[in-house]
Amino acid sequence: MSSFKRYTVTAALPYANGPLHIGHIAGAYLPADTYVRYLRLKGRDVVFICGSDEYGAAITIRAKKEGVTPRQIIDKYHAINKNAFARFGISFDIYHRTSEPIHTETSQAFFLRLHEKGLFEVQESEQYYDEQAQQFLADRYITGTCPKCGYSRAYGDQCERCGSSLSSLELINPISTLTGTTPVLRRTKHWYLPMQQFEPWLRSWIVEEKQYQWKPNVYGQCKSWIEQGLQPRAMTRDLDWGVPVPLPEAEGKVLYVWLDAPIGYISATKEWAKNVGKNWEDYWKKSDTKLVHFIGKDNIVFHCIIFPILLKAHGEFILPTDVPANEFLNLEGDKISTSRNWAVWLDEYMDDFQDRTDELRYVLTTISPETGDSEFTWRDFQAKVNNELVAVLGNFINRVWILSHKYFAGKLAGEGKIDFTEEYLQKAVEQARQHISDCLENYKFKNGLAALMDLVRVGNKYLTESEPWKKATDQPEEVANVINNCILLSAYSAIFMQPYLPKTAEKIFNMLNFSQQFHLWDQPPLLVGGHLLKEPQLLFGKIEDREIQYQIGKLERSKLMQQPPPPQKEEIAYEDFQKLDLRIATVVACQKVPQAKKLLQLTLDTGLDQRTVVSGIAEYYQPEELIGKQVLLVANLAPRHMRGILSQGMILTAQDRDGRFVLVSPQNTVVNGSQVS
Ligand code: 2FM
Ligand code: ZN
Repeated sequence: MSSFKRYTVTAALPYANGPLHIGHIAGAYLPADTYVRYLRLKGRDVVFICGSDEYGAAITIRAKKEGVTPRQIIDKYHAINKNAFARFGISFDIYHRTSEPIHTETSQAFFLRLHEKGLFEVQESEQYYDEQAQQFLADRYITGTCPKCGYSRAYGDQCERCGSSLSSLELINPISTLTGTTPVLRRTKHWYLPMQQFEPWLRSWIVEEKQYQWKPNVYGQCKSWIEQGLQPRAMTRDLDWGVPVPLPEAEGKVLYVWLDAPIGYISATKEWAKNVGKNWEDYWKKSDTKLVHFIGKDNIVFHCIIFPILLKAHGEFILPTDVPANEFLNLEGDKISTSRNWAVWLDEYMDDFQDRTDELRYVLTTISPETGDSEFTWRDFQAKVNNELVAVLGNFINRVWILSHKYFAGKLAGEGKIDFTEEYLQKAVEQARQHISDCLENYKFKNGLAALMDLVRVGNKYLTESEPWKKATDQPEEVANVINNCILLSAYSAIFMQPYLPKTAEKIFNMLNFSQQFHLWDQPPLLVGGHLLKEPQLLFGKIEDREIQYQIGKLERSKLMQQPPPPQKEEIAYEDFQKLDLRIATVVACQKVPQAKKLLQLTLDTGLDQRTVVSGIAEYYQPEELIGKQVLLVANLAPRHMRGILSQGMILTAQDRDGRFVLVSPQNTVVNGSQVS
């Protein structure tokens, strides 16, 4: 039995500055969701908290890039991310926002309490100021040369080439990214958290209590931070986007985003509790509550060192029991990168693979970066879906249902409660239940899922070896036993599957003709003789090569777009240019070239004549949409045969961001045959 009465489970609040990708999902949200679903099935009292992190430079930089206000950015991405999580089936109890008034109140009250306790040290220091933009610059707003490796585009907080964490004052030749000017140093005042004062306490809490409880990757990072010595850290910023510092002498300043964001978990809990009639304080202040933070490894210091110091300093709050941070998920041999569009976006996955969320849950769990970085590849995704979900799990359930319908019209044979007639099957079920529980309680999601699949394999092997199809006439009772055993094993598998593959489990419950859509973890499924099963339903479809090719193609195009434009060609004389006869022409007819995926055959009115040109744009344009469009033609290019068609000239195209060909046309309609010069 767990010694905790209730659970507060949080998943890192994603910045509302961009869409979610599979790295986010594998890093924090999927393990958190799996864990919470399990706790609920155990009948535990649990709240699952998440929401948008809406302050800090991450938001203002994005707003600047898109040429809109921070408010527009957060409204846009909050809606997109909230919706994507819901569509993917992450079962938060609340998806809150740090721009809500209840969050402003909560984080200001938290700050004030620390202030009243005399915790902060107010210090003046010199910081970079952009005179043209008339504002102090957050570290992320400054670029310059890295003092460690010489990279010329390092940020004020970190060098993305060598990974060193920096302070903007260390950068050589700093430049403001707001205006491109050189910032000047100005004095400003900030409220610092004297982290060094908490070092002895933190050391004993982490080293003595957490050393063998936390995952080695998490403990290792904490230990190295403590050993490097903790420094005072500013908890306020000179920015106009954030929670205002609630002190008259701090006019124009806001709370540091890493102070207010984790408090966002608390304000979200308050909002949830208000809505469902519970007491939020039970979930944050009672020592029999287990607080668990699911995060990615880049958030470890904030959740294991800074936030615990703040909670401890406040005095009324419990501390995190566990912080099961994951490492990073890489993609096709490279780091996931939003700016390089090297990612599998959650929304795009769900558009491209409709109703296949459990397939992604499955694969991401099997490669969960629990102890080290791991890698997603499309080929591996295809192999795991086809060879494991389709060939093992789907196949087992399907065979069992087909046999049951074939021999018994879908009715369970016998009378009264069905039990296993083979003791080893019962044992396998009990062992799986215990093992998967242990894995889930200890954040070993990958191992738990492997144990579930092993249980299904036991069923598959039993069915194959029993060969009921050979015994239908001679041993009908034996056939009935085998099928009942398999159905019972399917029901248990569905129960243990729920945290991992909730939609598949629901489908199996539905095929079992159970009235409930879920089933408590420890309650054996009640199957009785005479119970009627529903028809089998396909659980998983095969992933075809072409679907994978399409995804790989998308990534290849992203890579292509990262390449710098080719260098300028060798100089030519004006006379050389004059040799080209460039004309505007209108497409009057267009059709696909049979058996040539990439080619279109266009008929052009060139003003001189009507002629045929073959062009490799069939993947990007439908023939109908080109009719009436004007194009740019190299009219005097020597004619050549393409797939047996004589192409008289060439129409010109450019490549867009995704590597797709785009036709070049005049801005306004001009006379056909106009020369381009
Ligand atoms: O790294 C991030 O994306 C942060 N927005 C995580 C915040 S977690 C918590 F503190 F709110
Ligand atoms: Zn560097």
